[in-house]
Amino acid sequence: MVNDLIIRIGGEGGEGVISAGDMLAQASSLAGLEVLTFRTFPAEIRGGYAMYQFRVSPEKILSHGDTFNIFVAFNGEAYEVNKGLLKPGTVLVYDGPGGEFEPEPLEGVIQYPVPMTRISKVELMSPISKNMVALGAIVQLFSFPMESLKDLVRRKFKKKGESVVEINLKALEAGAEYVRANIRKVDGFYVQPVKPEEDVIMISGNEAIGLGALVAGCKFFSCYPITPATEIANWLSRHLPKANGVVVQAEDEIASLGQVIGASFAGVKAMTGTSGPGLDLMIELLGFASMAELPIVIADVQRGGPSTGLPTKSEQSDLFLAAKGGHGDFPRIVLAAATIEDCFYLTVEAFNLAEKYQLPVILLSDGSLAFRTEKIKRPDLSKIKIINREIYSGNGGYQRYAVTETGISPMSVPGRSDGRYIATGLEHSETAAPRYSPDYHAKMTEKRFRKIANLEDEFPAPEWEGNGNADVGIISWGLSQCAVREAVKRCNEEGLKVSAIYPKLIYPVPVKAIRRFASTVKKVLIPEVNYQGQFAELVTAHAGINPIRYDIYGGLPFTPGEIKEKIKEVI
Ligand code: COA
Repeated sequence: MVNDLIIRIGGEGGEGVISAGDMLAQASSLAGLEVLTFRTFPAEIRGGYAMYQFRVSPEKILSHGDTFNIFVAFNGEAYEVNKGLLKPGTVLVYDGPGGEFEPEPLEGVIQYPVPMTRISKVELMSPISKNMVALGAIVQLFSFPMESLKDLVRRKFKKKGESVVEINLKALEAGAEYVRANIRKVDGFYVQPVKPEEDVIMISGNEAIGLGALVAGCKFFSCYPITPATEIANWLSRHLPKANGVVVQAEDEIASLGQVIGASFAGVKAMTGTSGPGLDLMIELLGFASMAELPIVIADVQRGGPSTGLPTKSEQSDLFLAAKGGHGDFPRIVLAAATIEDCFYLTVEAFNLAEKYQLPVILLSDGSLAFRTEKIKRPDLSKIKIINREIYSGNGGYQRYAVTETGISPMSVPGRSDGRYIATGLEHSETAAPRYSPDYHAKMTEKRFRKIANLEDEFPAPEWEGNGNADVGIISWGLSQCAVREAVKRCNEEGLKVSAIYPKLIYPVPVKAIRRFASTVKKVLIPEVNYQGQFAELVTAHAGINPIRYDIYGGLPFTPGEIKEKIKEVI
């Protein structure tokens, strides 16, 4: 039995790699194991290399890991892509003998041929069931719980009809039977069920954002579908109406943010979900929301850019756009999620901040986190603090943009005769009348920025790992935090002196915490998945420190191994 096991399945888009991986991950979760998944697939609906990886362990899993223990190759391309990672001790399960490719003998690599194509196409006359034949073989080889898998097959294919369920159950059995009859297991990998924890849910990053919005009290969601953000809308369209909410698919991203702003003006909590190209289009209205001081939340699930870029791959390259995009000077808040739990809790936090400070809050996630599924502790809703906007309670003399010490002025809702105002993008007076004089523009700009002047003090301090006097201190944001956590753990186990700080509030940059942290370490390192070192640049500009940058930009997240190597190099 190996405690910490990583299985990767590779094949062609359309061959059902994702379905097979999802089912194995769910079965592992039902067996009480911790699960963390990672997938990459092409932008095309059919064809191209699709990959699903999942890591199972009885212990809490920090990241998707470095590489795999077991690789299941559905076709020659998948084998070619992963051949270099097949090291001694790993297992290759492949479509053979007699498939479209035959792997060369690789030293120390255990190879199990399973004729997935032949069994599905010739014996079962159901080519689409190739993935289920593979699944049956994997179940038999590595002791996954067959009954759970059968249940999952029934649930997954029920909507496609009884005959689809039947043929896939047969395929599952055929794969398992082939292994029983033909393969002698020589590896040591087994999945061992543990006592299931009761209070957990298995959920993806995008679903967790939807759930967070629901819990925060969101009543209106509008978006234009875009990979990798669409599942937020899919999830909310199933659940928001049950909470008297509305989900709208708008004609484009500009319209969707316009609707969100309108809904917020009308008095309800409102949100959109998009990715980089969509956020580009929304920028003018982002400035409007900040100028008109309307609370809105935007979930930006980053993908590789620029332009349409790499729609299904992830990057951390929308930070400049989120933090600085737009004309004129206007405040906004940017949070970044690193885990599935963050996707949930930070969405709630994004609504709270938007409502409290009456401005746009952007939550950054990314493609890898969006599609990752993981078991998280069921949120205790009784412990979650929900903030609602301050509503004008006087009668008469209402000033929507009253200049206050905190910069926050009470809101109103349409229909109140004593709370009328015009939400305007023009510079305005306290009562929202247009004003273009130098003193008004200065006074109102300062009022708007005053709202977030002390945000760092009001936001929970970033988590800090490790003692002072470290040789290297890592400042990490977004999904990269997962790989950093695992790398720091490994380094400290080896006796290296490494610290890390994990901010969730990204903009305004938490300068006090970063300066304090930087003063306790010899060298500061900022790893991020973009070419320009966007967070490092913001940290330099705002906190006045000069970190060592480690930027990767291949459309894939960091592995812990990459971070560890860099730490050693820096030391
Ligand atoms: N029997 C019957 N149906 C099966 C099956 C089986 N044994 N195995 C899989 N399927 C079905 C799945 O249910 C799914 O159908 P659905 O869409 O009706 O749910 C379909 O076959 C695809 O299988 P799945 O496992 O989900 O994906 P895959 O591994 O084959 O990969 C994708 C396909 C995900 C790569 C591709 O379809 C895709 O979505 N690409 C990305 C598109 C995109 O977002 N582009 C960006 C635009 S900007």
